[in-house]
Amino acid sequence: MTIHRIGIVGGGLMGSGIAEVSAKAGLDVTIREIDDATVVAARSKIEKSTGRAVDKGKLEPEAREELLERITYTTALADLADRQLVVEAITENEPLKLEIFKTLDDVIEDENAILASNTSSIPITRLAKATGRPESVVGLHFFNPVPVMGLVELISTVLSSPETEARAEKFACDQLGKTVIHAKDRAGFIVNMLLVPYLLEAIRLYENGVATADDIDTGMRLGANHPMGPLTLADFVGLDTTKAVADVLYDEFKQSQYAPPPLLVRMVEAGLLGRKSGRGFYEYQ
Ligand code: 3HC
Repeated sequence: MTIHRIGIVGGGLMGSGIAEVSAKAGLDVTIREIDDATVVAARSKIEKSTGRAVDKGKLEPEAREELLERITYTTALADLADRQLVVEAITENEPLKLEIFKTLDDVIEDENAILASNTSSIPITRLAKATGRPESVVGLHFFNPVPVMGLVELISTVLSSPETEARAEKFACDQLGKTVIHAKDRAGFIVNMLLVPYLLEAIRLYENGVATADDIDTGMRLGANHPMGPLTLADFVGLDTTKAVADVLYDEFKQSQYAPPPLLVRMVEAGLLGRKSGRGFYEYQ
């Protein structure tokens, strides 16, 4: 069954990107944010990103207008009642996510609706258990920037039904045009299990004074052909998010390579969160 109506909880970096690609695919999208100011911020992110797509010749101006018209904004979770799929994309705060899944379970009318989380670190099983329909809960993990990155990790739990998994895959592949890879419900799934230790190792190199930030990044850009060096990428992902994923990996596996280095912890405590706060390993306008 094709998904026509999608709800996105959280219009931040990831949520606004998921909303953009869904609206581009012709879906009716409702984004739930917490207040008027965050609604304005979410709308502006999507306008800016789609504006860039037009400038780069990736989207016609009329198609952009139609895309923007397909998105509505609300501050009430109850306004997602008629959605066939909801993707939760709020910050990595487990109690808050559990509360959202519980409320979604109460308000979503369609008993076949899929409840998905974009979490990169919190076990999907715990979110599923907060609902009365754990068979309908999966992880759909997108990558930043969502309109550009071609991958979605699909995480099914021991409680997810094969029908839910198949419908979620069809949505991400056939409707959004993403490549789907499957992972079990383990911290880090596939990509972060490999990517985050690499980012942490780069931070340790810098922290230990082995090389400058520029040289570490240039090394991986020119020596391994990565589009961004690891410190630029950590700033791009957000140092708070990088630390949150590292904390969860360490918690799950208790292996030292996943422990966030002290410099990362101090930077997050200082509010140096990377690109989104204007300063991380580099400074941004
Ligand atoms: N819609 C469609 N296309 C768009 C677009 C939009 N809204 N915005 C940009 N594009 C296109 C551009 O036209 C361009 O296409 P082209 O290559 O054909 O010209 C392409 O996307 C790249 O865009 P830009 O020119 O604006 O930017 P750059 O060339 O500087 O690349 C980057 C930026 C894509 C971010 C690149 O540096 C990159 O790939 N970096 C690595 C990103 C990465 O690793 N992300 C994963 C992070 S981990 C994660 O998200 C998981 C989490 O759990 C931690």
